[in-house]
Amino acid sequence: MPQDTQSSLQPLFEAALKVQAYAHAPYSTFKVGAAIKADDGNLYVGCNVENVSYPLGQCAEASAIGAMISQGAKRIEQVMIVSPNSKPCPPCGGCRQKLREFASPQTPVHLATRDGKVETLTLGELLPKAFDM
Ligand code: THU
Repeated sequence: MPQDTQSSLQPLFEAALKVQAYAHAPYSTFKVGAAIKADDGNLYVGCNVENVSYPLGQCAEASAIGAMISQGAKRIEQVMIVSPNSKPCPPCGGCRQKLREFASPQTPVHLATRDGKVETLTLGELLPKAFDM
């Protein structure tokens, strides 16, 4: 069940909400913000970046992963995704796999609405039987 943002999740929620405003989404108008709490204790954020050549667009989660890896952090401890409306925005299939590269099946994935309702699932629930080699 969705819950109001718990105080421990407030910094992650606020970081995702802030970066959501920077999303470049002129084609879908669907702005997404993502914030990762990483193993180095820092927060890394990203927004979606669309392109006139539509398939080249990048999701918010991928932007946040890029920021995390670019700063030397290695693992995702938690991730928050803020939707642009009152419905949560679960990560797309591709982003579930991208998150799995740096997170475990137990990693919490928080799905927030703009008004601060949060539903938490594990990455394993979102991506069971993930591909691995
Ligand atoms: N989008 C994300 O940023 N994350 C997701 O998990 C789902 C979709 C973006 C991609 C595109 O820019 C817009 O939302 C509409 O699909």
